[in-house]
Amino acid sequence: MTHATARAHPNIALVKYWGKRDAAVNLPATGSLSMTLDIFPTTTTVTVDPALDRDVLVLGGAAQDGVPRERVERFLDIVRAATGSGHHARVETENTVPSAAGLASSASGFAALAGAAASAYGWTLDLPGLSRLARRGSGSASRSVIPGFAVWHAGHDDASSFAEAVSAPDLAMVVAMVDRREKPVSSREAMRRSVLTSPFYPAWITSTAQSLESALSACADGDVDRLGRITETNALRMHAVIQACDPPLRYLTPTSVAIFDRVAQLRDEGIAAFATADAGPNVVVLCRPDDAAAVDAAISGLAETVTARPGPGLQVLEEAAR
Ligand code: DP6
Repeated sequence: MTHATARAHPNIALVKYWGKRDAAVNLPATGSLSMTLDIFPTTTTVTVDPALDRDVLVLGGAAQDGVPRERVERFLDIVRAATGSGHHARVETENTVPSAAGLASSASGFAALAGAAASAYGWTLDLPGLSRLARRGSGSASRSVIPGFAVWHAGHDDASSFAEAVSAPDLAMVVAMVDRREKPVSSREAMRRSVLTSPFYPAWITSTAQSLESALSACADGDVDRLGRITETNALRMHAVIQACDPPLRYLTPTSVAIFDRVAQLRDEGIAAFATADAGPNVVVLCRPDDAAAVDAAISGLAETVTARPGPGLQVLEEAAR
């Protein structure tokens, strides 16, 4: 039996990934830009065990069945196909991020799994290779492999679609945990529904490609205000796409909206703060590190908050011995 352990952190997109051009290998319709956080890591150990007749997933000490286990099995199938292994594995994961609450547990989860599985099965990959592998598990996981700020190039095939580091101004994110419960509709399903039914989806694709270009130039210029404005606009556009789906779908709650309003008020008061939200009710506020305490004070009456800074990329804590 060989085993390896890896750790990864969630990331929050400033320019979102929302829609696939190829679901089979998880190619996104557009590129995206994110910050990997220094909080809520996921730690995963993969033990390749020839005695197992199927893959086992243990999440926070509890054995999983159904979709989560099947997703892990499909992912390990990719690793087995690449390494010529016929062996199954035991995957033990500890999440410190509230699962499925829109705080990107699938991003940290599949990034950590990619690192641990590649090592346990003896597949030596460079950083773009690990990002491509993580992408197959969950698109946003491609960015959690990268420390700090990452751009995920949409690419045109499996080889060209991966994330890499990009330099950006020094920033913080104040995370407002509006609701920790599991969301009723997964982002994967909501994305599919958006592509198929939202009349705004074509406009989302063209505007997001432009937003990514502008955001990358704002990063290069160190322009926090421009980057922040693009971030909030892009998030609200994504939620507009989602809110135009059939059957109807809405992730933002009255509390989420109240936080967006409070953040706009902060801007009127002279603080450069900008809100974003993934496929869930939680809101994340982008600001300069020096303003994080003021942002936190302004919104902590509305939801539980925690401040994050740019965090590390994928860390293999224990390489498989062979
Ligand atoms: C709203 O990466 O979870 O967080 O590729 O289907 O696993 P799959 O989707 P996932 O979607 C993330 C969507 C988002 C935006 C983002 O992180 O860019």
